[in-house]
Amino acid sequence: MEQAEGTQPEGRATITASVYTSHVPAIGVAVDQGKTEEPYWKPLFDGYQPSKEWMKENTPDVIFLVYNDHATSFDLGVIPTFAIGTAAEFEPADEGYGARPVPKVKGDPELAAHIAQSVIQQDFDLTIVNDLKVDHGLTVPLSLMFGQPENWPCKVIPFHVNVVQYPVPSGQRCFALGQAIRKAIESYDKPIKVQIWGTGGMSHQLQGPRAGLINKEWDNRFLDRLVAEPAELAKVPHIEYVREAGSEGIELVMWLIARGAMSDVAGSGKAPKLAHRFFHVPASNTAVGHLILENQ
Ligand code: DHB
Ligand code: FE
Repeated sequence: MEQAEGTQPEGRATITASVYTSHVPAIGVAVDQGKTEEPYWKPLFDGYQPSKEWMKENTPDVIFLVYNDHATSFDLGVIPTFAIGTAAEFEPADEGYGARPVPKVKGDPELAAHIAQSVIQQDFDLTIVNDLKVDHGLTVPLSLMFGQPENWPCKVIPFHVNVVQYPVPSGQRCFALGQAIRKAIESYDKPIKVQIWGTGGMSHQLQGPRAGLINKEWDNRFLDRLVAEPAELAKVPHIEYVREAGSEGIELVMWLIARGAMSDVAGSGKAPKLAHRFFHVPASNTAVGHLILENQ
């Protein structure tokens, strides 16, 4: 039978949606210490309430979670540009105050191995990591979207991008990698639902004379363009992120990986549906941005 454009053959994995969110260690502390109703934090957590409800209706089988490690599992001894977590389990890392009291992250070794095979054969050199502890870059987005469950409700494949130690990958490369990841996931032989998340950002700078920098206008334009013209946004050079969004604003290139995996990018699917958009400043030193895009 002929396959309709933009749909998957039966029995194959589908990417149902992409989720984008900032991470901030202090958000994890607020959740873990029961401070989410305090005046400083309430507006932020209120902005994620619709997302938690959306998540209950749209829980996937697996989240492919693009994030950055912060010199926790990868220090200056080894700096992989792109690394995929292929283990069955990933423990929350001790970042200096003990590990966060959150559930262990359960992986999907079979799907991760399939993605590694496919993406490496599409000429992206991934580092394969069988032993990985996950820091706030991965656990804070999970807390924002799921709250405090006893176990995370689905499997998670951690995908680390180096945005900490220069040289960092370009927006173009991240966007192209997202397209390769989509091909990989959609060629997987099981009828599972997969979400792809892009995390980190938005504008923030944690050190130097510009510490505390936040650029609301640039951030909101980034959100507009990520939805409407991602291929153009991918051309923005890394120096613009640093100049406009601060040294840690470069974390935003990771959002282009998730956006590159949406079905409209290759021209075969409709534009995604915007299910939720939220922006809030500040949380600790960071502007917080959030989007949910559904494939249709
Ligand atoms: C903060 C933000 C980050 O992205 C991070 O990795 C560490 C700290 C902050 O705003 O405090
Ligand atoms: Fe960070």
